[in-house]
Amino acid sequence: MAENPDNSGTPETPEVTGADPATYTVAVIGGTGPQGKGLGYRFARHGHTVILGSRAAEKAETVAAEVTERLGGLDGAGAVSGATNEDAVAAASVVLLAVPYDGHDELVAALDLAGRTVISCVNPLAFDQRGAHGRVIDGGEGSAAESAQRLAPEAVVVGAFHNVSAVGLWSEEDYLDEDVIVVGDSVEAKQVAIDLAASVTGRPGVDGGKLRLARVLEPFTAVLISINRKYKAHSGIRVTGLGGH
Ligand SMILES: NC(=O)c1ccc[n+]([C@@H]2O[C@H](COP(=O)([O-])OP(=O)(O)OC[C@H]3O[C@@H](n4cnc5c(N)ncnc54)[C@H](OP(=O)(O)O)[C@@H]3O)[C@@H](O)[C@H]2O)c1
Repeated sequence: MAENPDNSGTPETPEVTGADPATYTVAVIGGTGPQGKGLGYRFARHGHTVILGSRAAEKAETVAAEVTERLGGLDGAGAVSGATNEDAVAAASVVLLAVPYDGHDELVAALDLAGRTVISCVNPLAFDQRGAHGRVIDGGEGSAAESAQRLAPEAVVVGAFHNVSAVGLWSEEDYLDEDVIVVGDSVEAKQVAIDLAASVTGRPGVDGGKLRLARVLEPFTAVLISINRKYKAHSGIRVTGLGGH
């Protein structure tokens, strides 16, 4: 990712200094929910600046204070603040969508996401007597991540963190023993999520291919929810056979 060369109002992209890993400023839309808060906490632990967004700034500030307290003055941690979703987006180069699928399209359409790398972890799921299942999006030819890309054509959308549980993110474990699979049509944008995944798992995210494969990752979470119910666990995905990854 290149620095913003023209100072056109798009926030700076990551600071890359020598061999150090890139650090990002991440706006978390829906950052007051367990998934956004948990991912924000993990990112900040690894030096990324996090702005938790909400429809109500005060609510976001309260949750940001909770995350800051949990960081406990950790050396090298990034700052965590709270803001409205709109202000968070305006101050960040990377935007994480961590809102429920219901209302997602309206929210994405209303945000000015132009020029941002947008990471969607949104899982369109439904629940009935037989448990969790994936919702059919665009007659099976779409996904929440693809909808976000369609609604924000001047952003670059990738999918990641769909299969990571909020409980694990807020846990005491240093790293979660699982992988984050990243899908997207832009190598550069995928690299941002691949870098951020290291905050969660201790290793880079796994490039899972094109954005349309979000159609697989999103409903797969229903399988993990079923496994969790059966085994009273917080399961995740581990990709094997990648050699030194
Ligand atoms: N929870 C998990 O373990 C988990 C794991 C993987 C992926 N995910 C995905 O991550 C996303 C967030 O999950 P979550 O459990 O954190 O969800 P959540 O608690 O239901 O919602 C997150 C936040 O979204 C905002 N929100 C709710 N409805 C909204 C609407 N109609 N328009 C705009 N904002 C709205 C709320 O923030 P404000 O009221 O502050 O605006 C809420 O705190 C979901 O798509 C979920 O599928 C969750």
